[in-house]
Amino acid sequence: MGAGRLATLEQVAGLIVKVASENKCQDALEVGVHWAYSTRALLKGCTHHVTSIDNHFYPYAVTRVEEDDASDRWTYIVEDSLTAMPKEKDEIYDLVFIDGAHDYDHVYSDLTNALRILKPGGVLLVDDYLHEKGGDVRKATDEIVSQHNLSMKIHPAIHEPTQMFGVAELSK
Ligand SMILES: C[S@@+](CC[C@H](N)C(=O)[O-])C[C@H]1O[C@@H](n2cnc3c(N)ncnc32)[C@H](O)[C@@H]1O
Repeated sequence: MGAGRLATLEQVAGLIVKVASENKCQDALEVGVHWAYSTRALLKGCTHHVTSIDNHFYPYAVTRVEEDDASDRWTYIVEDSLTAMPKEKDEIYDLVFIDGAHDYDHVYSDLTNALRILKPGGVLLVDDYLHEKGGDVRKATDEIVSQHNLSMKIHPAIHEPTQMFGVAELSK
């Protein structure tokens, strides 16, 4: 992983902790575990439980969460988000972080499911909204924002000005 990508992951993790704390997050769900930056940030910023969905199993992530002594507050579901997210109950999460597959169908489906499982007043964070090679993240997010009349705040990635990853913060 390059230094720029590492800095961006650390920046996004910092944003997650800040948003989770500001919104008094108890329970959160994320799509996309890999290096566990977002997982660990959600576990740090939320007071109760974090559910993570990824279609791959990353032992590295499990080790990091164990080192943080947070395994008892974490559920790791290894499954495609297209089939895993519909199994989640309505309105049970304070915060949902989406950073899984970046193609249109997955992002659109992940965001639609995220809105359903978020509690009223919950916050939805979408990673890579500004990423130049971020697939269809921006297209699908803009459509969801328009269809559900959501408010959106963009958090650009300051560490890589030439390749903006950026996180979109959506709320109802
Ligand atoms: C950019 S990485 C996530 C990085 C992570 N948020 C972090 O902070 O370290 C994207 C992740 O999405 C996962 N992914 C890709 N397609 C997926 C799918 N269809 N369902 C679930 N997870 C998927 C990949 O396995 C990968 O771990």
